[in-house]
Amino acid sequence: MHPVTICPSILSGDFSALGSECRALAEAGSDWVHVDVMDGHFVPNLTFGPQMCAVLRPHIQGTMDVHLMIAPVDPYVEAYAKSGADILSAHIEAGPHVHRTLQAIRGTGCKAGLAINPGTGLDAVAHLLDDIDLVNVMGVNPGFGGQKLIPATIAKVRQLRAMIADRPIRIQVDGGVNARTIHALASAGADLLVAGAAVFEGGPEAYRRNIESLRATA
Ligand code: DX5
Ligand code: ZN
Repeated sequence: MHPVTICPSILSGDFSALGSECRALAEAGSDWVHVDVMDGHFVPNLTFGPQMCAVLRPHIQGTMDVHLMIAPVDPYVEAYAKSGADILSAHIEAGPHVHRTLQAIRGTGCKAGLAINPGTGLDAVAHLLDDIDLVNVMGVNPGFGGQKLIPATIAKVRQLRAMIADRPIRIQVDGGVNARTIHALASAGADLLVAGAAVFEGGPEAYRRNIESLRATA
């Protein structure tokens, strides 16, 4: 099994205090923040623009992982890169030219992630393996935190792990990751586990315990 990283999703944090939420995650031993960007068009919810990412950046320790649930993507790649993102993930479903988008992301110096919805097969990913640093396999239909893992995600991760073989591509699962699902996902080959509700439940004093128990259960 690959060593796992828990990627707390700030979507489940207190929106009136996002800077202190990011600092609380660092204090809880996390060196990763997953930022869910939603446009009210590609997904039925609205969240963070690039300016919000830029103001959060100084409060984040380690990796700022920006998940772009927006369409179109290309006009915003530079702004999110400039906001201080380390990783930008774009959805394969967001437009007809995902290869161009991935090249634009790498052109900014960010790592490129390819996100795929539950209803999308892995076939198209096979042609993009030279252009990506991670695949974000959605475990739920994107738009909201706190949803239940779609069980077919586990087999999809296993299939993707075989497809990736020895390439240095990380497999992220996003949505529905919790103490009940994390072991099956990690055993199938996921090594970046995004968790919103499972990290933030109980408030800041519980973050360390929640993150450590997810790591231990994986
Ligand atoms: C869903 C987001 C996820 C979500 C995960 O659209 O991309 O990152 O916040 O939340 P949980 O872990 O609560 O399913
Ligand atoms: Zn996400």
